[in-house]
Amino acid sequence: MDALEMTGRRVFVRVDFNVPLKDGIVQEDTRIRATLPTLKQALDKGAKLVLGSHLGRPKGRRRPELSLAPVAERLSEHLGKPVGFCGETVGDTVDREVGKLANGEMLLLENLRFYPGETDNDADFARRLSTTAELYVNDAFGTAHRAHASTNGMVRHFKQAAAGVLMEKELHYLDMALTDPPHPFTAMLGGAKVSDKIEVVRSLLEKVDRLLIGGGMAYTFLRARGLPTGKSLVEEDKVELAKNLLEEAGEKLVLPLDHIVASKFDAEAEHRVMPISEIPDGWMGLDIGPETVAAYGDQIRAAKMILWNGPMGVFEMEPFAKGTVALAEVIAASDGTSVVGGGDSVAAVHQAGVADRITHISTGGGASLEFLAGEKLPGVEVLTDA
Ligand code: 3PG
Repeated sequence: MDALEMTGRRVFVRVDFNVPLKDGIVQEDTRIRATLPTLKQALDKGAKLVLGSHLGRPKGRRRPELSLAPVAERLSEHLGKPVGFCGETVGDTVDREVGKLANGEMLLLENLRFYPGETDNDADFARRLSTTAELYVNDAFGTAHRAHASTNGMVRHFKQAAAGVLMEKELHYLDMALTDPPHPFTAMLGGAKVSDKIEVVRSLLEKVDRLLIGGGMAYTFLRARGLPTGKSLVEEDKVELAKNLLEEAGEKLVLPLDHIVASKFDAEAEHRVMPISEIPDGWMGLDIGPETVAAYGDQIRAAKMILWNGPMGVFEMEPFAKGTVALAEVIAASDGTSVVGGGDSVAAVHQAGVADRITHISTGGGASLEFLAGEKLPGVEVLTDA
């Protein structure tokens, strides 16, 4: 982005303002705040900014409850200056409003996904979007795994298309994990389903010294080891694959030693700590136990780089949050470079109150997983070479 001559020029910035909204009020604005360095830099240079984003999945229809209007207000509060909002995304009204922008002013367009052309990456919609600006910047790392009109199709119409400050930072830290991680490098993966993370497990096993597994996905591996899993979340069709991964990985892949088991999936359920080899019939594992926290904690403290994606238990329920919160604290206290991605682990880091001590918190869920799985991101590939 530094290489672009922006003064007096119309710059389209693709941002990811896909934030939770309730009754027209933004509930959580990390993604909005994360774009401020890019927007401030462009405004200081005297650019005329046209901002585009999606919000939710309106499937090509206008859904008033998914309007970006409340986001424009919140952005304006953070920037301390007005943010214009246009109720359309392409067409005459947009052209007129963009034409009125003075240097250092900005306009947020309505939700890109109100138009089917966005997710279809329709050539005509992409062309019409591209006519709103002379330069293109992508700062929407969270959407970089989507080949949509605003992240991919329209970009081909620009001679210069750059990464924003946030995009660059995201790529820097995630790329560090894949290409040149300081060692020991420990990754910790959790979350409900192993099927969401198979490719990430495979890719990371080639890079890490230790891969610590927790959360619901641990149970498919435990079943593959022949351990009883009660009613815990097991993906039967992935057990064979888990067996192969365990064999290939050897001691690199680390499974929990103990767990907190509960009689049912409920915050009020009866629960107790048990060794991982034990679980009462019909019960389910909902968190890692204290021995696992200690063992995983030792690995994290010894690491020079830590990558974390996915919670260790059902942290939304207080009795099953201890493992996730305790390890979030260990990661925050570590001297190593810490990178946390995925909506749930990011929420857990905030819940634990340690967000400011993490080296990099990714704004991308699916995007960071695809990147870590070694896939090319269509929103990044299409940017021009400086
Ligand atoms: C996200 O929240 O992961 C991104 O904004 C992408 O949203 P999508 O999964 O609806 O494409």
